[in-house]
Amino acid sequence: MKAVHTPALLEETIRYLAPRRGGELMVDATLGEGGHSGAFLERFPTLRILGLDADGEIQERARERLKAFGDRARFYRVWSQEFFAAYPADLDRPDTILFDLGISLYHYESSRRGFSFLKDEYLDMRIDTSRGRTAAEIIAALSERELADLLYLKGGERYSRRIARAVAAAKKRGPVTTTGALAELVSASVPAGYRRGPTHPATRSFQALRIAVNGEAETLPVLLEKALGVLKAGGRMGVISFHSGEDREVKHFFRAKSRECTPAPETPIGRSGGFPVVKILTPRPVSAGEGERRNNPPSRSAKFRAVEKINDPGVNA
Ligand SMILES: C[S@@+](CC[C@H](N)C(=O)[O-])C[C@H]1O[C@@H](n2cnc3c(N)ncnc32)[C@H](O)[C@@H]1O
Repeated sequence: MKAVHTPALLEETIRYLAPRRGGELMVDATLGEGGHSGAFLERFPTLRILGLDADGEIQERARERLKAFGDRARFYRVWSQEFFAAYPADLDRPDTILFDLGISLYHYESSRRGFSFLKDEYLDMRIDTSRGRTAAEIIAALSERELADLLYLKGGERYSRRIARAVAAAKKRGPVTTTGALAELVSASVPAGYRRGPTHPATRSFQALRIAVNGEAETLPVLLEKALGVLKAGGRMGVISFHSGEDREVKHFFRAKSRECTPAPETPIGRSGGFPVVKILTPRPVSAGEGERRNNPPSRSAKFRAVEKINDPGVNA
């Protein structure tokens, strides 16, 4: 089975997150088709990986792809924020955690769940199809104003009001349930110059809906906090993000943790003093080089940041 998705910033990820001793444990918190995990397992023969994904369908593909690594790869079908919040007591704490946020090219091209405006499909957009509202259900439930806010806040769509007005008018005639119908409404409601721009006019609206359906914006800060709590002291955590809002969130989280002081053991209660939780390994975000940008266009918007956990509040407190 051939993978649909090409892992972004693979060499950069390996450079920052390579194991530094034998027998390390890594959590790939967004396993996808297992592109990053496969490369790590191949290159580091004593590394073990726990692969998490909320999407059972894509996880089956990763299982198949990583079969050759036997029990060095273990799989959990779970939202990673829930996994880290209740980290299994019988597992070692991880030396490394990797996040490759968002969805995979597989979702756009093969999932048939309405992630792409280039195909005409039902507007589902759920990563985890066992729960939650679909994009079509969200569109049906939101008022014109609420939809405009969603498109603006989660997608940065500057014509959010016009688009929401067109969708509200269409809803009076019947429900908007397909990617084709939504893409047409968006195209017809934005100015001609925007329609002929370098990106499809529906790109931001689709991104906003996907983020809303999967609770991505609300989840990220909790996810990073819980994961860092579980990471071993001395361990490393890396995050690849694909849009500026996400990268900003990651940057602020890492900065705050590099300043936040966990109390030093000898500090009397009520006195300040102590140690920062992380050291930032990437003062600036790492982006794809020319070659990768050319060969794997989605990598153009990828940004990677990494930290090393230098103090463990749980241990020092
Ligand atoms: C960009 S893809 C990962 C691609 C992977 N690194 C590869 O090279 O094949 C992100 C994957 O993470 C999953 N995902 C996104 N957010 C998640 C979360 N909070 N918890 C669990 N899985 C998540 C998606 O279903 C998707 O399969």
